[in-house]
Amino acid sequence: MRVLHVAAELYPLVKTGGLADVMAALPPALARAGADVRVLLPGYPAVADAVLHARPVASIGPSFGAARVQLLLGQLPGSHLPVYVVDAPLLYRRGGGPYQAADGHEWPDNLQRFGLLGWVAAQLGSGELDPAWQPQVLHAHDWHAGLACAYREAHGRQGASTVFTVHNLAFQGLFAMADAPLLGLASSWLSHDALEYHGQLSFMKAGLRFADRISTVSPRYAREITTPEFGCGLDGVLRTRAADVLGILNGIDTEVWNPAEDPALPHRYNLLDLSGKAVNKAALQREFGLLVEPDAPLLVCVSRLSAQKGLDLILSALPALIDMGTQLIVQGTGDPALEAAFRMAATAHPGRVAAHIGYDETRAHRLLGGADMILVPSRFEPCGLTQLYGLRYGTLPVVRRVGGLADTVVPADTQTLMQGTATGFAFDAAQASELTRCVRDAVQLYRSRERWQPLMRQAMLEDFSWHHPAQEYLQLYRHLVLHPGPQETVS
Ligand code: ADP
Ligand code: GLC
Repeated sequence: MRVLHVAAELYPLVKTGGLADVMAALPPALARAGADVRVLLPGYPAVADAVLHARPVASIGPSFGAARVQLLLGQLPGSHLPVYVVDAPLLYRRGGGPYQAADGHEWPDNLQRFGLLGWVAAQLGSGELDPAWQPQVLHAHDWHAGLACAYREAHGRQGASTVFTVHNLAFQGLFAMADAPLLGLASSWLSHDALEYHGQLSFMKAGLRFADRISTVSPRYAREITTPEFGCGLDGVLRTRAADVLGILNGIDTEVWNPAEDPALPHRYNLLDLSGKAVNKAALQREFGLLVEPDAPLLVCVSRLSAQKGLDLILSALPALIDMGTQLIVQGTGDPALEAAFRMAATAHPGRVAAHIGYDETRAHRLLGGADMILVPSRFEPCGLTQLYGLRYGTLPVVRRVGGLADTVVPADTQTLMQGTATGFAFDAAQASELTRCVRDAVQLYRSRERWQPLMRQAMLEDFSWHHPAQEYLQLYRHLVLHPGPQETVS
């Protein structure tokens, strides 16, 4: 099975969120399962400079406003998977982030940058650019790659079938309709039936309308996005594609995230010997200037600071959480108002609350390795990875019951505690009082070591490796190759 994955991020080269983690781990997991997998990435400096043995496979010439575009083929450092790189210096070779300049403004030419990515993907899919390798399945991730599905359709559906994975419906890749000519698509592609979304162009809609199959990163989110509450205005489009939408839960890289071998931890630990956790906790308390109290439940949160993540609930619940004797460390970047609020909370509660406003992978490992619980009170969450890291590290997740959080955490209640299946804590309403109640229940259990440690062990036993998800994707690809095209489209 030949599969081309197309995305805008891949850890550790370029990362703004979980998409990068998925792109780093899913393609190698598919390769281990026997698929012939390649990846296509934009040639940002961090990608172009890291790829090994890159050689040109096609010269594309001027396109999407770039004078010179080439397609390179090399190897990904680490996994050694073959990787195609779109080398277009004018569009990709610059500082800043993949979508934004250092000042936080979107790059003004994102339409061209990700239009080109989608176009190259579709060309590879139809065997135009690399005669030596043609994918059977073109797997596009999030809006950045969405146009691949439209270009494939525009080229007459030749070659590869398409799968479009929604990692986050809230980011849609909307652009001014006036810029549409830059995409080189006929005007019929700009209608409401195609790429138009409330007067703008939507790259996300291109994926949703034209992919043969749509997947998202948890079964529950797959259902949620067909409702107005979670559909971000695209639930109608998704309902017309209901037969083609499915949810496949993300995995995690169990080698990168492994408390028994994690080089970032002062003390490694495992199911049989959890003692290292206490040592890590004390080290973390010292590192963050918290009181070194072994019995204070230590809560952490590692997150983008955005409205999605429900961090305002933590801020509102903070006085009550502190009253319960907990400590809190937040590590994140994003919304300046949330950054300031967490800084202020740390100043207001010295020794009990700490905030690291920044991005730090190694420290994220130390936070997971030393804390007792991880808070993920998201308003919506397509999958969420930090609760999975929490489970793997015996750092019990306290989550809101939405999306992938609901699908991955078994909340403690009378029944699950009795059966020994509980792995965390969950609450429903997005209210600080609900979060507080949930943490209170957790703290009560925490106070009894004989009851807490079995939960830690149960959480650590759960298998969230990529093995199962990779099999599910393979099954999807096989089905698609046998039955090409959408299963059912209601228009
Ligand atoms: P999202 O993709 O919506 O941000 P996920 O939970 O899927 O949420 O993935 C977030 C990823 O980014 C995880 O790997 C998490 O550890 C990482 N992360 C987020 N913020 C930080 C931070 N400040 N420092 C280190 N890692 C972070
Ligand atoms: C998105 C979602 C997150 C998911 C990640 C990887 O960024 O917000 O829930 O885990 O993609 O699929």
